[in-house]
Amino acid sequence: MVFKELLNFRLKDISYKRVLSSMCTVPHPLAVKAHIMFLETNLGDPGIFVGTWELERELIKMLGKLLHNEKAAGYICSGGTEANIQGIRAARNLKRAKKPNIVIPKSAHFSFEKIGDLLAVEIRRVGLDEEYRVDVGEVEKAIDENTVAIVGIAGTTELGQVDPIDELSKIAIEKDVPLHVDAAFGGLVLPFLERKIPFDFELEGVTSITLDPHKMGMATIPAGGILFRDESFLKLLEVETPYLTTKYQFTLTGTRPGTGVASSYAVLKGLGFEGMKRIVKKCMENTNYLVEKMGEIGYEPVIEPIMNVVAFKTERAEKIKEELYKRGWVISTIREPKAIRMVVMPHVTKEMIDEFVEELKKI
Ligand SMILES: Cc1ncc(COP(=O)(O)O)c(C=O)c1O
Repeated sequence: MVFKELLNFRLKDISYKRVLSSMCTVPHPLAVKAHIMFLETNLGDPGIFVGTWELERELIKMLGKLLHNEKAAGYICSGGTEANIQGIRAARNLKRAKKPNIVIPKSAHFSFEKIGDLLAVEIRRVGLDEEYRVDVGEVEKAIDENTVAIVGIAGTTELGQVDPIDELSKIAIEKDVPLHVDAAFGGLVLPFLERKIPFDFELEGVTSITLDPHKMGMATIPAGGILFRDESFLKLLEVETPYLTTKYQFTLTGTRPGTGVASSYAVLKGLGFEGMKRIVKKCMENTNYLVEKMGEIGYEPVIEPIMNVVAFKTERAEKIKEELYKRGWVISTIREPKAIRMVVMPHVTKEMIDEFVEELKKI
């Protein structure tokens, strides 16, 4: 039977019960139910999937509201990589420089390497301060007449750190350069934290934001998100689509699933702001628990965790990661400083942390 064959492959995958490295998680039951309802939808042809298209507009409105901008425009895409590509593509098309460059922090995700290659923009990586936030002085110095965008990260992949987006916003306004905020991870964490850290459209200079429901939004994969300050940015991405039910398309991919839209909507609407707050609170409690347990065996965090991403200093990072992998556990490492890194997603429980620490002690 083909399903037995499929199951054999699937069983080779590592269960989330042993995964501390991923920014994705087990989808929420609400997401799974919604996903199944929308299995055959294709948002590449919105004239056919009229209801799914309307649902996507509702979801964007909901996310816009969360990000302090009811006029926000955008769509649900394949993930943070596509969202970052589209954010920078719109900025590049807006400014149209001869030799375009973008200024990004050293801590930016590797998707920006792809962006440099795909969009033929020069990537100017600038340094960080001692807390691993972008050095705004360096950003200012790196900007010139060919700079088409500056980028700030709200929830860095390696440390969960948030760049001073308010200061970047001031620079963006002063220099008249679009500011793209990569909140792929932090976009669905920061609004639900007790401590308020400004990062979104509330700041005048912010023109676009990446925010992925398939990370902390517990939606089914794929569900990334790109939001722009207003609809005019979508126009910069449009191409004509002569043989479809609609005339223009601003998305990067043609055929694209409605499942991510439905599953993201189901989770956010179903749980509401308070429900999301409870989930983020639990993740933060578990992050602090992990820090405490790691402290007991001599590991110190690189920075005090801002969100549910934490790295612990060790010169043996690579070796530890390999040893754990052999034992069925998945963590990751960061390069600067040498450290092991964990992401405390909703599937990570205190029991799982206890088991993990016991395993780590043996290495
Ligand atoms: C900050 C940030 N941006 C972008 C991405 C890329 O997202 P995706 O893997 O969904 O393309 C990630 C992935 O972890 C990320 O952490």
